[in-house]
Amino acid sequence: MSRPRAGLVLSLVLSAALLSASVPSAGAADGLGDPVFPSLGNTGYRALAYDLSFDYRADRRTVDATAVITVRPDRPLARLELDALGLAVRAVRVDGRPAAFATRDEKLTVTPARPFHRGADSEVTVEYTADPRAALPHTGWVPTADGFAVAGQPDSAHTVFPCNDHPSDKARFTIAVTAPDALLGVANGELTRTEHLGDGRTTRRYVSREPMATELVQVSVGDYTVRERTGPHGLPLRDVVPTSRAADLEPALALTADQLVWAEGHLGRFPFETYGLLPVDTDAPDAFAFTGLETQTLTLYKPNFLRRPEPEIGSHMMHELVHSWFGDSVSPARWSDLWLNEGHADYYGLLYRYERGWPDDGGLTTLADRMRRVYGLGDQWRHDSGPVALPTADHLFDSQRYLGGALVLFALREKVGGDTFDRIERAFLSEHRYGNASTADYVRTASAVSGSDLGGFLDDWLYGLRTPPMPGHPDWTVAAVTAAGAAGAAARQDGASVAGGAGVARGSGTL
Ligand code: ARG
Ligand code: ZN
Repeated sequence: MSRPRAGLVLSLVLSAALLSASVPSAGAADGLGDPVFPSLGNTGYRALAYDLSFDYRADRRTVDATAVITVRPDRPLARLELDALGLAVRAVRVDGRPAAFATRDEKLTVTPARPFHRGADSEVTVEYTADPRAALPHTGWVPTADGFAVAGQPDSAHTVFPCNDHPSDKARFTIAVTAPDALLGVANGELTRTEHLGDGRTTRRYVSREPMATELVQVSVGDYTVRERTGPHGLPLRDVVPTSRAADLEPALALTADQLVWAEGHLGRFPFETYGLLPVDTDAPDAFAFTGLETQTLTLYKPNFLRRPEPEIGSHMMHELVHSWFGDSVSPARWSDLWLNEGHADYYGLLYRYERGWPDDGGLTTLADRMRRVYGLGDQWRHDSGPVALPTADHLFDSQRYLGGALVLFALREKVGGDTFDRIERAFLSEHRYGNASTADYVRTASAVSGSDLGGFLDDWLYGLRTPPMPGHPDWTVAAVTAAGAAGAAARQDGASVAGGAGVARGSGTL
């Protein structure tokens, strides 16, 4: 409970109890029923906007934060739930008035003095403190040498701020970050205001122009240098680099502008106001278990990876850039649709690699050769990781969602031809821009654009337990399934892997 006068709290609780007899509460189902993460997200309302303020206390290395969340109830609610884990909540207000609150599992229940009305927007304010180094069952915090960054995907944004933590509820975001003057606070979007507080601290406020999924939020504090440059058609590029590594990383950061030209040639205009990389100051393997993460407009990276030569990092950088279209602009309706993100990001990352003649670490030099190798593993991956569009939580980020997803797109392209495939991609992106799309939406668009019913064809590829024949390649064969274990482990990865090797992606970022 909060700590206002006991009488006030009691009366709030009592009136809430009386009201709840007649007014239903949100979240009774404890989540939105996502096929992979059933308890994520909440029913009864949509979050329209988050106004987040993070104040990094360098002395105690914790973050004092305030989240102001604009919610729109879709029915009368005596209370609502937010996802929250590891947040030490000090106070909650609804439309400025103190509200009762309680935490249970990974939910924060908010009970205002008066119920929420259907369709009437309310502001829920949560004041809390969080510790980026706290040991939690799962966390979205990335502790660094002198601050922190955020990697909320898929289900941990709510360890950083209370939210309706499901990609289907995208919202507007403004993020203010206060840091000691020796450090710099950054977040997604555009810097709109810098305020020197006069006490050795500065607050910087960032606005995201387009809606964002909670999993894509980035907030970071560190000893950073901001590198600004200009991309195609004047797009402002912004990299945020640890000052001590700025020179070292410059060759990699300089690659983005040309990559954007290539990506826009395939996918149309870059969808956001800016782009850049955030190589954070940690290479600790446990800081996050992958190489990069597509936090909107500002991609998180392990720094050492980016010190490698272009042929070893270019396709991974392309993978992350392509997430701006697939993942960030068009976000998955459910986590089982993850292949839409990772399959597309890998597909274009690979295309970029082989067009440039960069052999993968299995020595392959063409997309077709690579896809043939992945094809051979098709039944094994379906057995070990589930079909491409039917992941379980343990196997969500397996190669099956990445290379397996790319293989589905390759099969579709072989079936309908390059021109039609490109038109499907463009149509899908424009139909769902700044929103969400499901696997069924993709299948629908593919059928509509190609003028033929691709439902059966794509459903076999996406949901089947056996690998379908590859159009145009009757000679391609699939290896027999062996017991899970060695092969299963080899198919595990976490993060983009546009590499080659033995045909299975191992570890992260072995591009
Ligand atoms: N989406 C990231 C990428 O492929 C990888 C993140 C993987 N792991 C995770 N737990 N989110 O670029
Ligand atoms: Zn990815």
